[in-house]
Amino acid sequence: MLTPFREILEERRAAGAAAGAFTCYDATTAIGVVRAAEARRDPVLLLVAEASFRSPSGRLLLPALLAVADAARVPVCVQLDHVDDDDLIDAALAAGAGAVMADGSKLPTDDNAAFVSSVRSRAPGAGVEAELGHVEGGEDVAAATEAGALTDPDEAATFAAATGCDCLAVSIGNVHGRYARPPALDWDRLRAIRERVDVPLSLHGASGIPDADVRRAIELGVCKVNVNTELRERYLAQLAAGLPAARDGLRLLELEESVIDAVSDVVAAKLAVLA
Ligand code: 13P
Repeated sequence: MLTPFREILEERRAAGAAAGAFTCYDATTAIGVVRAAEARRDPVLLLVAEASFRSPSGRLLLPALLAVADAARVPVCVQLDHVDDDDLIDAALAAGAGAVMADGSKLPTDDNAAFVSSVRSRAPGAGVEAELGHVEGGEDVAAATEAGALTDPDEAATFAAATGCDCLAVSIGNVHGRYARPPALDWDRLRAIRERVDVPLSLHGASGIPDADVRRAIELGVCKVNVNTELRERYLAQLAAGLPAARDGLRLLELEESVIDAVSDVVAAKLAVLA
């Protein structure tokens, strides 16, 4: 069932858990994500990457994910992820996205705050996530990446209060895509941010972060965890493994089902860590 972004995050926070947010490049992935969430009776977030939404066929993906979310037996919210383009944000809101990530993290802090505040005022019914400091790495690439600018706890408090965002993504040593070296998350920084900031916190770049560290982040106040790379790796591995047999008999449906199962396995394992 379609459920407001903030409602999902607050419920998870109260439960001492985190909502899994999974990037979906197609409806097949979304079906796999929701299947795992339903089996565990967990809420879940479906993310649309900016590159997807920007692509010629991308505008069709959001309505497809909304349909999957609507039919789900658990709370689901569809979010446009990491966008700094007002037109794209407005298009996603008009298409019914339950949340957007207004990512001004490459801007000076004041400009980032002004950008997020402006999105907030245009999206009264939707969730707005912001990012302070910068989580390095590309959403849709897999290059090995070093950590970017870290979130300043005092600045985070002012920023969250000034923008009215529903969720703040923190940069504490996490990166998108593959880690150039084993992640070393800055726990003192996360603790300090949590002490100063009331709104739900999110951890991006969760692929490659050991389960124990994800758990520790949740204990220190994170209640949304974003995953993309691990899902894509498993999707493509299953596609490659299943393709020869499927091609022989033109068994497209079986191939798709096997990909849904593979995605579902990855998501179930992640959700077990987040619960
Ligand atoms: P990963 O690709 O590193 O899992 O990051 C996903 C993400 O943070 C999406 O916003």
